[in-house]
Amino acid sequence: MQEFAWWQHSVVYEIYPRSFQDSNGDGVGDLHGILERLDYLVQLGIDAVWISPIYPSPMADFGYDVADYCGIDPIFGSMADFGRLLAEIHQHGLKMILDFVPNHTSDRHPWFLQSRSSRDNPKRDWYLWRDQPNNWLSHFGGSGWEKDDTTGQYYYHSFLKQQPDLNWRNPAVKAAMFDALRFWLKKGVDGFRVDVMWLMIKDHQYRDNPPNPGYRLGQSSNSRHLPIYNSDRPEIHELVAEMRAVVDEFPQRVLIGEIYLPVQQLMTYYGKDLKGANLPFNFQLLQCAWSAEAVAQVISDYQGALPEGAWPNWVLGNHDQPRIATRVGARQSRVAAMLLLTLPGTLTMYYGEELGMTNVPIPPEEVQDPAEKNEPGLGLGRDPERTPMPWNSSPAAGFTTGSPWLRLADDYKPVNVAVLEQDKSSILHLYRKLIDLRRRRPTLAVGKLSSIKAENGVLRYRRIGHHDRILVVLNMSADPATIAIESGSVLLSTCFDREGKTLHETVDLKSGEGLVLDLD
Ligand code: GLC
Repeated sequence: MQEFAWWQHSVVYEIYPRSFQDSNGDGVGDLHGILERLDYLVQLGIDAVWISPIYPSPMADFGYDVADYCGIDPIFGSMADFGRLLAEIHQHGLKMILDFVPNHTSDRHPWFLQSRSSRDNPKRDWYLWRDQPNNWLSHFGGSGWEKDDTTGQYYYHSFLKQQPDLNWRNPAVKAAMFDALRFWLKKGVDGFRVDVMWLMIKDHQYRDNPPNPGYRLGQSSNSRHLPIYNSDRPEIHELVAEMRAVVDEFPQRVLIGEIYLPVQQLMTYYGKDLKGANLPFNFQLLQCAWSAEAVAQVISDYQGALPEGAWPNWVLGNHDQPRIATRVGARQSRVAAMLLLTLPGTLTMYYGEELGMTNVPIPPEEVQDPAEKNEPGLGLGRDPERTPMPWNSSPAAGFTTGSPWLRLADDYKPVNVAVLEQDKSSILHLYRKLIDLRRRRPTLAVGKLSSIKAENGVLRYRRIGHHDRILVVLNMSADPATIAIESGSVLLSTCFDREGKTLHETVDLKSGEGLVLDLD
């Protein structure tokens, strides 16, 4: 594995810090809480943690509205807590990836306070000001333009009006933001996940977006237009390359981009000569239908579109998407785990996936997420996938000694870390075994992927290494299936009842059963 960078064979674990572990009883998770749970993460076997934003923030969008790029919000702890956590993470042999939010700041950021104070303030041009709005919309509903009474102009916000967009065409903005990156890189942070990378540059002529012929009532109002002038602009690639160059000033760091685009466009973010993002997040599994045919297609299309030399990555969940166990059901969530952990490249999982955590319905009066508050009832709210991690069966699930900021799942007593640890057949043990297998058999991480097929509701593919060949078969249908295979011995089954057995010619798979086989 020595010829590979650490991140190429890593399993990245996303922590939504508000919901992982509270250490001071205020009902909100914090940095010290993460520190207390490092042993759990080591035992799970993951390689890196990506922590959603921990910077000072008014929390209009729970940290994705940053008021100081070089600080720690007191709700999460202090800079000393951060230093201790980073050191301990490294001591435990793990890496730390921070979230970087470059598209917009908080409206309370000193830069914006200055920018809005007068038309001739030196920071005026750090944001996007216009006399008249165009038709660009906010991702959280309604117009993306807000009139500011002090100066009578409008500023653009891709998200909340409390999240004004920065003007990345201004060299001073670039310099200040790149210095913020260096601030954390010097502290020893191992990389960044860059928020909404594909939105950072907008059309300099501010042309109106055309209507979206595919828009249907009930979709978010933002999908009424095709966002051709305020997203994925050609100039973005130069900017990403510059950001990458900053990260590359420090050895062994990684730049990951959050990008929701079709595969062909996504691939352009690897950049010219692969000098863009190391990993443009691949969200295909979050968006595709859950069937052997659909997933086989997604895997083949992604593979086929990867530029020469570009490193693949796969994602099963994040803090903006319905949880996988809710999307596919409990039985298939074991298949999903085996799928993710046998695909090539860098993998990202979301906290609680290893427990089979599901979306938790949040009653209207408890809603926290601005996406739900602004456009209620469309199913856009993200609170359900952000509920506290259940650690044990005690009141508040061991997450807090106070009252949790978001309610716990009703089923936290049977579904928590302590209970699933005792149950040797649990999904938690499946995750541990899969991650362990991936480490013991590097072919799973870095080997070739071939022979991707769907038949009788079963997805199958091979992983080919220098010295081994591994077959993965996953029954993604609701029915049992019999399929032909080459002889091989079972390395791992989702049901834990076939390990070490040799299979010849055919195999019967239960619904939701998956096998990893060592081919003779
Ligand atoms: C990204 C984040 C999301 C946030 C938005 C605005 O999509 O993942 O949580 O609300 O950007 O920063």
